[in-house]
Amino acid sequence: KEVYVVYKIVKKQTLNQAVELMEIHAPYVARKCEPGQFIIIRVDEDGERVPLTIADYDREKETVTIIYQVVGYTTELLSKKAEGDYVQDFVGPLGQPAPLHKCDRVIGVAGGVGAAPLYPQLRKLAKMGVPVDVIIGGKSAEFVILKELFEEFCDNVYIATDDGSLGTKGFVTTVLEDQIKAGVKYDEVIAIGPLIMMKNVVKITKEYDIPTMVSLNPIMIDGTGMCGGCRVNIGGETKFACVDGPDFDGFKVNFDECMQRQGMFREEEHECRIGRGM
Ligand code: FES
Repeated sequence: KEVYVVYKIVKKQTLNQAVELMEIHAPYVARKCEPGQFIIIRVDEDGERVPLTIADYDREKETVTIIYQVVGYTTELLSKKAEGDYVQDFVGPLGQPAPLHKCDRVIGVAGGVGAAPLYPQLRKLAKMGVPVDVIIGGKSAEFVILKELFEEFCDNVYIATDDGSLGTKGFVTTVLEDQIKAGVKYDEVIAIGPLIMMKNVVKITKEYDIPTMVSLNPIMIDGTGMCGGCRVNIGGETKFACVDGPDFDGFKVNFDECMQRQGMFREEEHECRIGRGM
């Protein structure tokens, strides 16, 4: 066990009012991780363990970048840390690398903070020589993250916002369907964002028979397949997002069941926060 390892925050950046980026010195994870994998962070000694997807990594600098939404007790605690501070635990890489393969064209669809795990996947495809496009969605311009980074390697970067403050006013799914209808041929779609967004993307891609990968982010406790907290229904089979995923064939995911379970845990998280005097 890496008892003496310290995980230093080498960079901290605010991306918008709810989302922050941290680059953390974590040599072991940085050496091994691949797009699609995640880590479990524990901010301090009595902190809870929270899974976060890997947004980027630098094998030379031995750093891993995480992008997180400040939504609960742990992310609020993390948000209070500054550059130069340390986090207690940074365990990983966990989960399976995203199954990326060579093909003629891929489009990524990101909702909100889902742009973070999508970024390394599309970048890897681009490096493999696959032409990639991306659609990034957000409530408003401020919530559209990583646009400039995607522009570095994507042929087309489309934006959709709820209020029309940037790009198309409306849903990422509308932009996707417009592209497909306009005759752009995609071999695969990778959708990462809220469950309802991924569900709606799959509704469209099923119609046009375009294979679609989605990334599931259910509640995780141990991250090693032991607790069963992250179980999901994939084509009628029970899988664990932490060891079998987090990326799954979108055509096989039972989104309604995922949403129901997510709702269930939200109640518990609420109680937990009250219990902590928040
Ligand atoms: Fe416990 Fe996946 S987090 S089984």
